[in-house]
Parts: sequence; C-alpha cells; structure tokens
Amino acid sequence: MKLEPLKIKAQKEVKSAKNLKELDGLYKKYLGKKSEITQILRSLKDLPEKERKKQGRLANQIKKEIQSVLELQKNKFQVPRPTSPEDEVFGGRASSKFQEKEFDITAPGKKIILGHLHPLTIVRKEIEEIFQNMGFSIVEGPEVETEWYAFDALNIPKDHPARDVWDTLWLKPKAKSQKLLLRPHTSPVQIRYMEKNQPPFRILAPGRVFRHEATDASHEVQFHQVEGLMIGKNVSVANFKAVAKEFFQRFFNKEIKIRTRPGYFPFTEPSFEIDVQCVICNGKGCSTCSQTGWLELWPGGMVHPNVLKAEGLNPKNWQGFAFGMGLDRMAMMKYKINDIRLFYSSDLRFLEQF
Ligand code: PHE
Repeated sequence: MKLEPLKIKAQKEVKSAKNLKELDGLYKKYLGKKSEITQILRSLKDLPEKERKKQGRLANQIKKEIQSVLELQKNKFQVPRPTSPEDEVFGGRASSKFQEKEFDITAPGKKIILGHLHPLTIVRKEIEEIFQNMGFSIVEGPEVETEWYAFDALNIPKDHPARDVWDTLWLKPKAKSQKLLLRPHTSPVQIRYMEKNQPPFRILAPGRVFRHEATDASHEVQFHQVEGLMIGKNVSVANFKAVAKEFFQRFFNKEIKIRTRPGYFPFTEPSFEIDVQCVICNGKGCSTCSQTGWLELWPGGMVHPNVLKAEGLNPKNWQGFAFGMGLDRMAMMKYKINDIRLFYSSDLRFLEQF
C-alpha cells in the first residue's frame, strides 16, 4: 500500500477504536515489527541513494503521524492521574477536580512534633557537665558484671553480710567458676578504670543499676547511679567536701549547706554520709526530709587501702575519695517528683512536662 493512504486508513481506524485493548492491536498493526511501515523502513537499504532518502523521510514522517494519533487516542481512554497540591505549584498536570479547590499558599504548615529527652537523661547530662567543669572524665562499664568487680575487688569478703546490702540479682551461671550478676551499683566501673589507668585521675561513672527490691514510691528494681572517684597524692576529706558543696550549689542553683556524718561501706575508710539541707523546705522540716531538715543524698568516703591494693596501687603513694548518688533521687529533688516509678512508667502525661 502507498504511504499516504496507509496513514489515512490508520487514522480512521484509530479514531474509531473503542478501548485501550483495541488501540493496542492497532499499535501493533501499524507500528509493530511486522507492520507495513517497518517493512518499508527495512527495505530502504536496497534502494538507490536518492530514492532511499526521499522514501525514508516520507516513511518516518508517516510513522510519526500515526504515532501521534495513537497517543492522542490513548490519552482519551486513560483516567487522569490523581493530582496533589504540589502538581499545581510545580506546574504539573492538575485534575479538574483539584482546580475547583483553591490552594491557600498562605496557610500555616503542619507543625512537626519534636521529641525530647527523658527527665533522667536531662539530669544526668547536667550532673556530667558540672563534674566535667571540675575536671572529671565520664566513664562507662557493663551492666552484667562478675562477682569480682561487683564485690571482691571492693573489699567485700565472700560471706560477709555486707553483700546482702545490695540485694543482688544473680544470673544463671554458664560455668560454675563464674557467677554473673546485674550490677547493683556502678562501683565496678571505677575498679575497671583503676585497672587500666594510672592515677592521678578524676572520674564519674553514671549508669543503670539493678536490685532485687520490692517497688514503692522510692524504690525500683532498676534505677541509676552516678559514682565518682578522685585519686591523687594528697586528695583529702577537705577536697571531698569542697567538691560535694560545689556540686550541690551548681545543681540546685543556690547556696546550700551540707553536713558530714559517719557511715559504713566496706570499700571506704573512713566512710561518710553527706547530707544536704532540705531543698524543699530549706531546712525547716517537711515530709520529704522526714521533718529533719536534711536530705541524705551522698554516701561516700576515702577509698579503702585494700581496694587500692587490689588494683595494684600502693596506698602509701595514692589516696582519694569515692562517692555515689542516686540519679533518680537527684531528679526527684530537682523537679519535686514524689514517686520514682513515674520515671519508668512511660506515661506521656508525666514525660511531656519536661
Ligand atoms: N556503691 C555504693 C552503693 O551503691 C555507694 C558508694 C559509692 C558509697 C562510693 C561509698 C563510696 O551503695
């Protein structure tokens, strides 16, 4: 068939096609591998040059024209693509449905809700910063510990009743020789640090600890401690008290009175309890301080010579202090929270206040 009549025939058939399937058949018929156009284009190579150019140009033009009627018809059958406001803004195809609705470019955007830190994290970071400003480094250690790091190296003999103080959660042992436990305090972190580092040093060990306790408003099976250790040639009780007072004043942001009472810990000698004048009633006496005017916040003392020896340090050359505070308790005091369980309850009404 001649090219021109072929085009006319194709256009007619395409326009009367009723659906996409029919159109697809016509596409194959007129432009497919076996179509007349394709045959003509293929046989061009056998023609003399002049003839080839002329025929080639014509065949390509006819091919394009058939292609464009096919496209046009196809668009009629296709459902318009759903559009979004962006289509309009960026010059895309907007459906007529969209055009009916106006897009208000001045309307405020959707507010993205940002997450925030947990109150315990906020307080931990604050405490860390205060100590870092006093030259302390932050160190961490494992939550699953061996008996050696949790007790033995801390001068707590195997069958000593002092071990009961820590209400330890023991793990099922794999081998009889090694008893594993969930650390009941962060003191093991200090032992691990002393093993690898030579004094003088100042370190702070924050972390999660676990005890086998019944829960109530002031006890949880898991809570957080921040323990500190400062070892040097002449580190004394006076340094300890100065660091404690400085810390409390910076933490509570006001002038704070502290007092030192004797205490007992196997790993410190002498041992103290550092009390802070009640930050709720300023020492007058209230329910938080059991009417005493004082809060018991910091147990501590001078590191026991046996602990230094266990780490290969000569107690004649080195001395220093150690202390431990409950992070949860510090947060409770700071924000006047009366139940430790709130920290772990994932209650958004509580958490969103921070
Ligand atoms: N490790 C002690 C505890 O968990 C706290 C403490 C640390 C006491 C350092 C004295 C010195 O109870």
